[in-house]
Amino acid sequence: MSSTSQTRGIFIAVEGIDGAGTTTFAHGIHTTLTASGLAVHRTAEPSSGPVGRLLRELLKSADTPDPAVYALLFAADRRHHWLSEILPNLQKGTWVITDRYVLSSLAYQGIDEDVTWVSHCNARAPLPGVTFFLDLPFHVAQARIHNRGGLRENLEDADFQEKVAQRYRDLSRTFGSSLVTLDASLPPQHLVRAALMELSVRGLLPG
Ligand code: TMP
Repeated sequence: MSSTSQTRGIFIAVEGIDGAGTTTFAHGIHTTLTASGLAVHRTAEPSSGPVGRLLRELLKSADTPDPAVYALLFAADRRHHWLSEILPNLQKGTWVITDRYVLSSLAYQGIDEDVTWVSHCNARAPLPGVTFFLDLPFHVAQARIHNRGGLRENLEDADFQEKVAQRYRDLSRTFGSSLVTLDASLPPQHLVRAALMELSVRGLLPG
């Protein structure tokens, strides 16, 4: 995995298990940064591109694909997402916030597949400048999933999610200073404030 040092915009990824609130958080920081006058593009993976659309269909299907197929498709979607949407925005100075990126593949596909192989599959996915990991106990996330009406996708199975939660924590300890862990049990507005503080401390916010 390479870095994004050749680009002008800041690249941010948001990560966490299902139910951790990545989408609400990404929306919150997007709204706040945009209101402060920055050009910010919000996106997500699976992306809205052709491989991403296929993945959304597979995630809803009763037949869960082979884990290696998932790993390859997520990596292919990511490469397309990077080239067609993320990089062009960064190059023109626009910030990019993606709801999920490489860490999702390491955490989810790394359960049933060799995580080193999954990492190799993602070798062409440049790393974000900052990754916010929303850490939430697995049982709290499960209660949130239950409250919103139950499972929507085939990777939301409780046993699997428990392993993913632990894997995220393990990975977060080895990911280096570009990863910021936030306590996702805090209210959304607190999380957004903590994230902005972190960006400010890192000297990334203008003015
Ligand atoms: P979402 O629920 O955040 O939209 O993500 C869809 C599901 O896809 C979620 O269960 C996480 C999973 N996923 C992976 O397993 N690997 C990946 O690389 C990505 C981006 C998502």
